[in-house]
Amino acid sequence: MKPSWQIWRDRRGRLSPLRMGAIAALLFPLAKALVDASTIVHGARPINDLIHRAGFWALVFLGVTLAVTPLRRILRYGNLVDIRRMLGVGAFCYIAAHLTLYIADQSFDLGKVVHEITHRWYLIIGGTAWLGLAVLAATSTDGMVRRLGGLRWRRLHQIVYAIALLALIHYFQQTKADVTVPTFAASLFVWLMAYRVVAWLQGGGELSTLALFAMSVGVSLLTFAGEAIGIGLAFHVSPLRVLDTAFDFDIGIRPGWEVLGAGLIVVAIDAVRSRWPRRVPRARAVAAE
Ligand code: HEM
Repeated sequence: MKPSWQIWRDRRGRLSPLRMGAIAALLFPLAKALVDASTIVHGARPINDLIHRAGFWALVFLGVTLAVTPLRRILRYGNLVDIRRMLGVGAFCYIAAHLTLYIADQSFDLGKVVHEITHRWYLIIGGTAWLGLAVLAATSTDGMVRRLGGLRWRRLHQIVYAIALLALIHYFQQTKADVTVPTFAASLFVWLMAYRVVAWLQGGGELSTLALFAMSVGVSLLTFAGEAIGIGLAFHVSPLRVLDTAFDFDIGIRPGWEVLGAGLIVVAIDAVRSRWPRRVPRARAVAAE
């Protein structure tokens, strides 16, 4: 048996390029912060800069964790599930850093931290998501999976969808001006949820390329509508006037286009993979001869 700290090895103890790639991806934000160190240190609020980076990357890795299930089906690469737990725990590490940096920013005045986290809405919501992620990280060991039993463990880990939703609300609430990136993040989350709902409605299994296409167009339209209503309400303008700017690429590419682009890439991958001959496991191929 391989020692459990050797996370770059698979269950059989072999070096796993997939796991090594995941570790490299998880360390990338840390490396980027080191490269940017001088800009961060000479910036107006270095700790706040780091709080933003840690929160942003935690959300990214949470999203990537949620993308594993659809991606392993679309890529026809079941082994991808091997890095799901690692990505989830990685997201928790960044969120642990996010809270620690926040506490440091409050000069380690724990009384003030508790007061803020229980009195400000965006922190109440962020704090709830934080607790949820802590529970998921604490129950992510092989021992905890055995102790809880597969079914109970899976049910508990379904709270990850609510956690991601709370994290997105927290992201929107603390973004003061341009909500383009949070809107794009939210639309990707809707896409990932839609995938699960459609798969569930059709009794599990892979979604057809056509279903993926229809879903991507639907989520894109929903994103345009949601963004127009949101901006309309916030700035007291007609959502139709906001929609009019969808083709004005000089003011930027709207999140509706971005999610459509991402969806179409997935559709293209699925179209190619669905025509690819499947690898038959050797034992079965020999038996069939
Ligand atoms: C007790 C828990 C938490 C606290 C105290 C906290 C605190 C903060 C603070 C102070 C900011 C910056 C606000 C500003 O500059 O005005 C922030 C931003 C952010 N937080 Fe949290 N947060 C918590 C939980 C979470 C969780 C669970 C997530 C996601 C998984 C998250 C994701 C983010 C993101 C994405 C940002 C914005 C980053 C950006 O601007 O790019 N936070 N949070």
